[in-house]
Amino acid sequence: MTVHIEGDAGRVVGPVPRRLFGSFVEHMGRSVYTGLYEPDHSTSDDRGFRGDVLELVRELGPSVLRYPGGNFVSGYRWEDGVGPDRPVRLDPAWHSVESNRFGLHEFAAWAEAAGAEVMYAVNLGTRGIQDAADVLEYCNHPGGTELSERRRANGADRPFGFKLWCLGNEMDGPWQIGHKTADEYGRLAAETARLMRMIDPAVELVVAGSSHADMPTFGSWERTVLRHTAELVDHISLHAYYQELHGDTDSYLASGAALDRFIGTTAGIIDETLTELGLDKKIGISVDEWNVWDLRRWNEVDQARLAEGGWREHPRIIEDDYTVTDAVVVGSLLSSLLRNVDRVTMANQAQLVNVIAPIRTEPGGPAWRQTTFHPFQRVAALASGVSLRLSVEGDRIRTAQHGEVDLVDVAATAGESGRGAVFLTNRATASPTEVRIRLRGARYGVYAAETLTTPEGGTRHTTNTAAAQPVRPVPLPGAAATSDPGGTTITVTLPPLSWTVLQLSLQAASHA
Ligand code: AHR
Repeated sequence: MTVHIEGDAGRVVGPVPRRLFGSFVEHMGRSVYTGLYEPDHSTSDDRGFRGDVLELVRELGPSVLRYPGGNFVSGYRWEDGVGPDRPVRLDPAWHSVESNRFGLHEFAAWAEAAGAEVMYAVNLGTRGIQDAADVLEYCNHPGGTELSERRRANGADRPFGFKLWCLGNEMDGPWQIGHKTADEYGRLAAETARLMRMIDPAVELVVAGSSHADMPTFGSWERTVLRHTAELVDHISLHAYYQELHGDTDSYLASGAALDRFIGTTAGIIDETLTELGLDKKIGISVDEWNVWDLRRWNEVDQARLAEGGWREHPRIIEDDYTVTDAVVVGSLLSSLLRNVDRVTMANQAQLVNVIAPIRTEPGGPAWRQTTFHPFQRVAALASGVSLRLSVEGDRIRTAQHGEVDLVDVAATAGESGRGAVFLTNRATASPTEVRIRLRGARYGVYAAETLTTPEGGTRHTTNTAAAQPVRPVPLPGAAATSDPGGTTITVTLPPLSWTVLQLSLQAASHA
C-alpha cells in the first residue's frame, strides 16, 4: 500500500501557537499530592516540589498549565489555598478530602519552575461574579487593596499577572457541580467577564463550550452561550476524550479525524453566531481538555472504589496505564491540533501527572514516562513556525464510529530556522504502509526519523511501568529525501500501528 501526501511550502494553515502544547493540573486523585507535590520525597525541595517530576515536566515541555480544575473547581473556594490557615474540606466532585496544603501561591511557584504560563479557572458552579473578581484582584492587582495586600502578605510582592482565565468548567455537563442551562451559564459568564475586564482589561477569557461532541446540547449550547458572551470573550472551549470501545481499534485510531470534525463544527458555529450578531472579531477555540481516557474503567471500577473507600485524601483515581495504541492515538490528536491552528488558539492535554497523565509517580518512589509522554514531548519540541496544508491520497479505512478516514494521518510544520517536521500516524494495524511525500517549494533533507510502535517482544497493548519503559520512539531506518528544482520528495515506510516523526532541514527554497 502506498499513500501519497502533497503539500507546498507556501500553502499554510497558519502559525503554530506555543499555547497548543498546554497541559492541566487539577486537584484530583494524585495529580498534586504525591504527584508533583510530596514534601517527604527524597528529590523534593524545601517547597515540597518533587525534583524528579519537575525534571520530566521540563523535558515534556508544556507551555501552559490549566489549574485548579476541572470538575474540582466548581466546588472550590480559592481562598482556602492561600495564607497560613488551610481548612480541610470535602471535595464533592471527586469524593475526596482536600487538605489545601497546596494552593494558589504554591502552584504559581511550581508553574514558574516548570517554565509554563498559568491558565486559571474560576468557580462558576457554586460561586460566581464576586468570587471571580476577587481571585483576579488577588492575583493581578499590584497592591493597596485588601485583596492585593493579602497576596503580598502571603509572600507574593509582585502580582502573578495571570493572563488566561477560564469562566468555569464544563457547565453543560449534568455531572458538574452547579450545572446550568446554556442561558443561565451564558448570562453568568457574560457578567463575570464584564467585571473581570473592569478589574484587569488585559485578561484573555475562555468561555465554556461543550464537554464532548456527543453532548445532546452540542451546537445549541455554543450558540446560546456566544449570544450572551461573544463581545466579551476571546476563546470558547471544547473538551474531547477518546477511548477504544468493544475492541473497535479502527474507530479508536480514527480519533484524530473525529477531533478535526469536532473542531470544524465548532468553528462553523462560532462564525455563524458572530455573523448573526454582526460582530467583526475572532473567537479562538481552546481545546482545554483533550486526551485518551478509558472512561469505562472510571465508571465501572474507580467510582465504586471511591464509594467503598469513603472520604480520603488523594485517592488513586483514573491512573490509566497507557499502551502503544494509546500513544499512537495521542500522536494523531496532536496532528489534528496542528492541522487546525487557524481555529485552535490553545490546547491542554488532560492531565499532567498521575491522572490520565503522561507522567506517573509512586509515593516515595520513582517518576516515569508513560507511552503517551513521547508524542507530546516530540511535537512540543519539534513543531514550530507554520503548519502546512497537506492533502492525502491513497487507501482509506471504514470505521464504525467515525466513517471513512485516511489510512495515514499527517501534519507537518515548517520553522523559520529552516527546520521542518512531519508527523505521521499509520492506522494500518497489521501491515506497514509506504508513504511518498511531495513538498513543493522547498528543498529539504531528512536528518532524523523516529517511530513509536510495538516494541520487540511486545504487543500493541504493551505499557510502560515504574520498572521498565520499553515503549518510546526508536530510530526508523530507510527514510530518504531527494530534492529537485521544484521541491522535495520524501519516501518512508511506516511500521504497522505506529506514530512517526521526520525531522527535516532546509537545504534551499526552490521557487519564489
Ligand atoms: O480531566 C478529568 C475531568 O474530565 C475534568 O475534571 C473534567 O473537566 C472532565 O470531565
